[in-house]
Amino acid sequence: MQQRKKETVLTLSAKKKAGMPITMVTAYDYTQARLVEAGQIDTILVGDSLGNVMLGYDTTIPVTLDDMVHHAKAVRRGAPDTMMIVDMPFITYHQTPADTVRNAGRLMQEAFADAVKLEGGHAIAPHVSALVQAGIPVCGHIGLTPQSVLQFGGFKVQGKEEKAAARLVDEALEIEQAGAFLLVIECVPTVVATEITKRLTIPTIGIGAGQDCDGQVLVFHDLLGFTMQKTAKFVKSYASLGTQAVDAIASYREEVKSRTFPNERYRYDDEVTGFRGES
Ligand code: KIV
Repeated sequence: MQQRKKETVLTLSAKKKAGMPITMVTAYDYTQARLVEAGQIDTILVGDSLGNVMLGYDTTIPVTLDDMVHHAKAVRRGAPDTMMIVDMPFITYHQTPADTVRNAGRLMQEAFADAVKLEGGHAIAPHVSALVQAGIPVCGHIGLTPQSVLQFGGFKVQGKEEKAAARLVDEALEIEQAGAFLLVIECVPTVVATEITKRLTIPTIGIGAGQDCDGQVLVFHDLLGFTMQKTAKFVKSYASLGTQAVDAIASYREEVKSRTFPNERYRYDDEVTGFRGES
């Protein structure tokens, strides 16, 4: 297979200009990353959603920088030729801009991230600028930003009222102005994401934000139907691998219990001479 070219901040910008949709899928370990790269997805997001789907937390708030470094290193090994954006977790970009740069530096130097992602608007714009000045490409994230779920009072569509929608447009412009090269928009009315996408020169990536964003992102486990739990309205599962996995595990259990596994296909019956097992 021909080796493909890794996306860059320039090629993603060119895709927006050419009206070519950008694909993004999350991955959290080596095997998932290999699958996503084989599926020729443009960009991998090592999302802090790993707190939910890999570590079993209810929110992303307990995820640490060490967790992100650990998972991103594995993803990098599985997908060396795909642009890898890594989430900065809760409270790693909310103190001084110098702290933010130091924390992002770990993701760049230890995990070889191509970019980092930060949630928020006005309050984090100075942190975006500091990262960009340090040479670190930044992806913003507005709308339903899961690290603020306690403030939102739950996982709810954002920007439904006129004032809130206008605030989202302002935040998007501010994050672009601060130097971000990409912006994730999560769980907002389509008309709001469409307006933001028109107003920005940088590409937008939607999740629950309608069809007009410059690209789309889905969580690996949702896309493949692994979770077997109720998912948000915006999730489309393209497979039901959770159910298939449970069926496969149950078949294995039955074959072990009935001693039909391992049959001769899976045994070394003829490869020992002179040993009968008698002492
Ligand atoms: O953490 C994550 O997976 C994300 C995406 C849902 C955008 O931020």
